[in-house]
Amino acid sequence: MTKGIILAGGKGTRLYPMTKTVSKQLLPLYDKPMIYYPLSVLLLADIRDILIISTPEDIIHYEDLLGDGSNLGINITYKVQEKPRGLAEAFLIGEDFIGNDNVCLILGDNIFHGTNLSDILSKAKQNKGATIFACNVKNPTAFGVVEIDSNRKIISIEEKPLKPKSNLAVPGLYFYDNSVIEKAKHVKPSARGELEITSVNKEYLDTGSLNVELMGRGMAWLDTGTPENMLKAAEFVEAIQSRQGYYIACIEEIAWRKGMISDQDLRKIGEELKMTDYGKYILSLLEE
Ligand code: DAU
Repeated sequence: MTKGIILAGGKGTRLYPMTKTVSKQLLPLYDKPMIYYPLSVLLLADIRDILIISTPEDIIHYEDLLGDGSNLGINITYKVQEKPRGLAEAFLIGEDFIGNDNVCLILGDNIFHGTNLSDILSKAKQNKGATIFACNVKNPTAFGVVEIDSNRKIISIEEKPLKPKSNLAVPGLYFYDNSVIEKAKHVKPSARGELEITSVNKEYLDTGSLNVELMGRGMAWLDTGTPENMLKAAEFVEAIQSRQGYYIACIEEIAWRKGMISDQDLRKIGEELKMTDYGKYILSLLEE
């Protein structure tokens, strides 16, 4: 089985004053809280057991928003990260939650949209070892960067290199086997004082068990790192939704399509929200 962790902590200082009193991943991305987007990715990957990690101040708001997940037919639990000590700390905080299972980590501020997303996710879930993804970007220096050969074998992976060896950035979505817990325990803090996810990935690379899946032109990985990028991501979501009539990251829709909740459950949620376009959309699904 594969469990899921959404890491939604951090101070969000790069978005101050927006995030001075509100956790970044709760901010609206067009018409829904940002965390709906990574949550929808886990649902698409058929992950039903999810741990949300956030700060001591903010965790209560995630619980208020999503509860125990039963209205989506899933199981959501919550844990606190005392300080933003790095992404790899998620596996130490989540050790008991992961138990003997595999785990998928997604960052609460990463947004993905594309036609073949479900296929990409199910492939990654089946791989042995660890699987990261690679997306072409203009400014790889802001990300983890992976270098691959012509057989798509990984040559190197570096965190925010000054001189990137490729334009392939590693998005905040990772699949690991259970050894990630032990590997995370060996990671030493980096120069910026964090337990880097890239260090965990390097351990997998050194043992020949790091896979990479390319996210090509058909996949959008949207950045929410600056106010401008947040606005652009929101405009992207609005454009797709109003043009196509399909919603991006409507978690209730995904749960319903996957058979995790019934028509009746979906109708109840839709009725509660029917004063909004979001609620009207949910109700319209039942007329299909
Ligand atoms: O977005 C993808 C990138 O995410 C990867 O390409 C990088 O390899 C990876 O290190 C990470 O880079 P960032 O510099 O963007 O990470 P940042 O410190 O901004 O944290 C990402 C999110 O995770 C952010 O919303 C805050 C949250 N976070 C971060 C840390 C360090 C936590 O919840 N806890 C933490 O300890």
